[in-house]
Amino acid sequence: MNKTKRPAVIAGNWKMNKNRAEAATLITELLPLVKDAGCEVVLCTPYTDLETSLALTEGTGVKIGAENCHWAESGAFTGEISAEMLRELGVQYVIIGHSERRQYFGETDETVAKRLRAALNAGLKGILCVGETLEQREAGITEEVIAIQVKKALAGVTAEELRRVILAYEPVWAIGTGRTATEEQAGEVNGFIRGLLARLYGEAVAERTTIQYGGSMNAKNAAGLLAQPDIDGGLIGGASLKAPDFAAIVAAAGR
Ligand code: PGA
Repeated sequence: MNKTKRPAVIAGNWKMNKNRAEAATLITELLPLVKDAGCEVVLCTPYTDLETSLALTEGTGVKIGAENCHWAESGAFTGEISAEMLRELGVQYVIIGHSERRQYFGETDETVAKRLRAALNAGLKGILCVGETLEQREAGITEEVIAIQVKKALAGVTAEELRRVILAYEPVWAIGTGRTATEEQAGEVNGFIRGLLARLYGEAVAERTTIQYGGSMNAKNAAGLLAQPDIDGGLIGGASLKAPDFAAIVAAAGR
């Protein structure tokens, strides 16, 4: 495994946190801390913070992402935002299929695939989230669950398009719980995902694809997780809301 073949990406997922003033404060504090980052840094913010975040990060290496997008280009979808609207704003990334969307908002493997398709069509980069629940892990079906999620989401995604897809393995039981997967557990599933990509797209494509881990990653455990051969970055929730914590994770990912 040669990690240098793929970019390390640390992405913050702010979820439904930070108003505009708070977003500005956080980004202003963060920018000097990550200016020499040895990895790609992405901040995925609520829609209402996107414009503020884009303005403050202009000309820096920090990229801005949204947390979801709809699959249609426009239309009667009250409350939704299209991938094209995000692109027009200057957003480069979008999280697709986060487990909170799957758990609380009826997201299915089918809607995840449609949203990823829309993101790719709009020229965005997708951070595709997959992960098993505690019940599924305990039933010994983690790999089956992950395989189905990955295959359904990537059906119809070409090898060329996959350059604009980051996968994020996020075990549902580790998200926001303070219960991180062990380095071995996380590394094992990330390795499984890479093997799956190799079967679907070939070794070379699998080797160049960034696969993150997410779920209670923090300043303390980041270095150990990121040292795993198949963990190429992180999707960070809680710890992305504090500049020093997030910056420490970015530093741990520097190559
Ligand atoms: P967490 O969230 O770091 O707070 O566990 C990760 C995520 O949901 O992406």
